[in-house]
Amino acid sequence: MNTASSIPSAVEWRDGRLRLLDQRRLPHHVEYLDIADLNQAWEAINTLAVRGAPAIGIAAGYALVVAMADETDRDGFLATLRRKAEHLQSARPTAVNLEWAARRICAAAERSPDLQAIRAEAEAIHAEDRAICQALGHHGKHLIQPDTGVLTHCNAGALAVSELGTATAPMYVSHAEGKPFRVFVDETRPLLQGARLTAWELSQAGIDVQLICDNMAASVMAAGEVSLALVGTDRVTRNGDVVNKIGTLNVAILCKHFDVPFYVALPSSTYDPQSATGADVTIEQRSADEVLGTAAAGVSVRNPAFDVTPAELVTGFVTEHGIAKPPFATSLADLLIAGH
Ligand code: MRU
Repeated sequence: MNTASSIPSAVEWRDGRLRLLDQRRLPHHVEYLDIADLNQAWEAINTLAVRGAPAIGIAAGYALVVAMADETDRDGFLATLRRKAEHLQSARPTAVNLEWAARRICAAAERSPDLQAIRAEAEAIHAEDRAICQALGHHGKHLIQPDTGVLTHCNAGALAVSELGTATAPMYVSHAEGKPFRVFVDETRPLLQGARLTAWELSQAGIDVQLICDNMAASVMAAGEVSLALVGTDRVTRNGDVVNKIGTLNVAILCKHFDVPFYVALPSSTYDPQSATGADVTIEQRSADEVLGTAAAGVSVRNPAFDVTPAELVTGFVTEHGIAKPPFATSLADLLIAGH
């Protein structure tokens, strides 16, 4: 059970069995999917049954263990694993945690091509994520001023990670310490991760939550009710560009206009120094059906799942090793590569 609130865990691993909370059905139906093979894992990631960069990485690590469970050929173990890892990575292109986890599992098999080794690595990824979220909460809590409003976009909460969340970690820690504050949650069209997931998990924890439509963020900022914006990310590039749920760029531009600090919660697993800038990142394009809704049939639709917020619109990053401030090319490298 999740310590952040009374919500179920996104990823459960018990006795070699992988179970994923079906987030497409939340908040009204709490159901788990038993993942028995690679294709089921691929499907769960591609259809957002499991979603959120860290949770995708954690699930991917365990999915490769499940997929290799019957592999007895030690000589062919690594080649088979690499082939399966490559297939799993094709489920979604943008969140770097999927390739990061696959790389770690393959590296473990290079050291020792057996099931025990990759299982230990998958469990280590999960355990590290718990510690990282705790540290994000600790380093980010002071950003939240008492009796003010924090705006967040999408779900970078306990449902998107192991527990506590990334952007929500400072909120849970501040709340646990008795600090009064309100969270404005963008509903986050088209799949409503804010309305269905973030508003649910924060209100379950007793945090003062107000759900807004994405197009209302400007008016709550104009009313002076927001003193901080805190969001998650799917990938942060070497220069500090932030790839996150579509609409995050809107929030960052509004923050610039209304002079509201815009912070990004960044676990080291989501930092991608291999990509120089946001222009180097593949943005997932999803089905028109997710947007069409009540629109007339045949209307042309665009549905990018993520956007890029340029580094210059970011006030700072909350990492598990502390806060990074501009210039991010050096501060992030210092904190997340050299610093620890
Ligand atoms: O499409 P999703 O729901 O996987 O998008 C999730 C986000 O954009 C989150 O903000 C991001 O993955 C960070 S989760 C800690």
